[in-house]
Amino acid sequence: MSTTATVAMSTDTERKPVTLHRLRRMLAEGEKIAMLTAYDASFARLADDAGLDCLLVGDSLGMVVQGRTSTVPVTLDEVAYHLRCVAAGNRHAWLLGDLPFGTYEAGPEQALRSSAVLLQAGAQMVKLEGGWAVETVRFLVARGIPVCAHLGLTPQSANALGGYRVQGRDAAAAQLLERSAREFAEAGAAMLVLELVPAALALRVQVQNPELVVIGIGAGADVAGQVLVLHDMLGVTQGKLPRFVRNFMAEGGSIGDGLRRYVQAVKQRSFPDTTLHTY
Ligand code: KIV
Repeated sequence: MSTTATVAMSTDTERKPVTLHRLRRMLAEGEKIAMLTAYDASFARLADDAGLDCLLVGDSLGMVVQGRTSTVPVTLDEVAYHLRCVAAGNRHAWLLGDLPFGTYEAGPEQALRSSAVLLQAGAQMVKLEGGWAVETVRFLVARGIPVCAHLGLTPQSANALGGYRVQGRDAAAAQLLERSAREFAEAGAAMLVLELVPAALALRVQVQNPELVVIGIGAGADVAGQVLVLHDMLGVTQGKLPRFVRNFMAEGGSIGDGLRRYVQAVKQRSFPDTTLHTY
């Protein structure tokens, strides 16, 4: 890790709550965006104090909090509960909530009802998975709801995708993903999570959609920012982890130190590493 790298950071001395406008400005100015998942008030406060720009109450809570084998059983009430907890601890970070499986697929009206529950629980943006959801995104955005789309490895449909494997490796799959990203941007999605895709493909998506805040997880360093699951980067998750995860507690210190190391590594572009964590 370079200790001399110039870190593009806001010159604000007093920290203000992160807004969508601010995230877009960070993208335009080349300041990398650091995001993590969070599920409770105490870790949300630690992460916020460490300088995280965004927190996501992800349906990964099904695995890392509830001990289940997938995100599919997670309910809307459960995400709303964890959102209320995180919102209570968070002071500055932009807060996203995942729409769980089965709470938006029936159509835009169902997605609106589910999004309302998450917004009322404290979310500032909702996230949904899958390239088929473009019209749902347009519908939500037209009603004033900021939306983050999620492409690549979409855990809610991992069974259909053949498990947790790199997506968009062949030309046809890559073209389909690029088209979905363009359609989401055109429909008004402000943010896109790209999970487990080759770095070259993620770079193309970011270049083709210069105003879309692309957040990678196993998608290389050439996008607007990075997200990891909190338990994975703190070394809490048991068993084999995907190659794109780095344990930020390996160097020791407090949990706050680990969180600060993550923010710094993302901002300084030393995480993800182009060989170790990238496809
Ligand atoms: O649910 C989740 O935590 C997520 C992240 C892995 C992006 O969707």
